[in-house]
Amino acid sequence: MDLDTRFPAISDLRARARRRVPHFVFEYLDSATGVEDQHHRNMDALRAVHFDPAVLQGPYEPDLSTTFLGRDYPLPFGCAPVGMSGIMWPRAEKIISAACRDAGLPYSMSTVATVTPEDLTATIGDQGWFQLYMPSDKGIRSEMMTRAKAAGFTHLILTVDVPVDSRRERQRRANLTIPPKITPAMIWAMLTHPEWTLGTLKEGIPSLKFVEEFARDTPEYNSIAHAGHIIRGQPGWSDIDEIRAEWDGPFLVKGVQEASDADRLTKAGVDAIWVSNHTGRQFDGGPACLDALPRIRDALPDASIIYDSGITGGLDILRALALGADFVMLGRAFHYAVGALAEKGPPHLIDMLKDDMTLAMGNIGAKSLSELKDRLVRETVPGL
Ligand SMILES: Cc1cc2nc3c(=O)[nH]c(=O)nc-3n(C[C@H](O)[C@H](O)[C@H](O)COP(=O)(O)O)c2cc1C
Repeated sequence: MDLDTRFPAISDLRARARRRVPHFVFEYLDSATGVEDQHHRNMDALRAVHFDPAVLQGPYEPDLSTTFLGRDYPLPFGCAPVGMSGIMWPRAEKIISAACRDAGLPYSMSTVATVTPEDLTATIGDQGWFQLYMPSDKGIRSEMMTRAKAAGFTHLILTVDVPVDSRRERQRRANLTIPPKITPAMIWAMLTHPEWTLGTLKEGIPSLKFVEEFARDTPEYNSIAHAGHIIRGQPGWSDIDEIRAEWDGPFLVKGVQEASDADRLTKAGVDAIWVSNHTGRQFDGGPACLDALPRIRDALPDASIIYDSGITGGLDILRALALGADFVMLGRAFHYAVGALAEKGPPHLIDMLKDDMTLAMGNIGAKSLSELKDRLVRETVPGL
């Protein structure tokens, strides 16, 4: 199958994934919250950013490499943490992390993955980042960090834009529960997606493997409810200091949109600010995530900044870089890719993004990523 002809864009991978996985799985991955306006605002804001192409800049051999937090990367993007990743396709965490390792790109494992950190030691190489949903119990918090480090994860990401749950109505309508409730609709969905179902049964029903190891029956909770409770630690500013003191590698805070927060985090010793609004999955009433980038970059010219939320192709990556990001992450795209094409999906996605970026750079007339901001059409960027 010629992947480039059949799936030239992320939208093609999304369309195929939608056919290949049961409805409740696709809705889990694809849904935002509310009427999903913020999700669309994220994408519209990216599309509204234009570049002024410079002509006669040949020869065109754009350099897409970058250095982030003292480390060289051949391309300026990687995979964001996605909980329950393994529900999208059997072994998804292993498949995506191996593709990222092979391409020299970072892969982030979620606290609520369907694997433990040790399960990924063989596939992350030295490109694994571990994402923490902060446990309320500090003993559990320390143990999770220690295990992630021992398993080979080099960077710690603390996610701070999930202070409480969100409704995600589309996901609710699709009736995905953890653990899965076996209903006639679910049995039908499984029968009509035999490849997903057989692979999933072979791997074992997806569950929050890492968190479950800490869960137990308590007077207040049964063990499943306790697993949910463990990861709802609702971090505050003092936790930043405590985690910073405990984790001796790069420490990233994800879900930041205010320059004053970014400033305070940087002063607390956080190594990188991760600008994200969870791709609109948490709250439907905020601004486009991209709007925060120039503000934060302006306030903190020397900070290391990551951007995610709403990236739909290589050109969007260039847009985020031009507006002040040093690095860009994608969540759903890697999962559409694995749902659409299993092992072949994530490497194809990486190639597609690389090609798209290379050609867009040539058409913009930029030879390196740092030249992009000079080619922005300033009127298309809020706050510039
Ligand atoms: C299905 C799904 C699950 C997610 N789970 C997590 C998670 O466990 N931890 C986290 O920090 N972010 C999580 N995110 C947010 C992603 O890390 C990232 O911010 C977002 O997907 C980026 O936007 P994009 O999907 O438009 O690329 C999740 C996103 C999706 C789509």
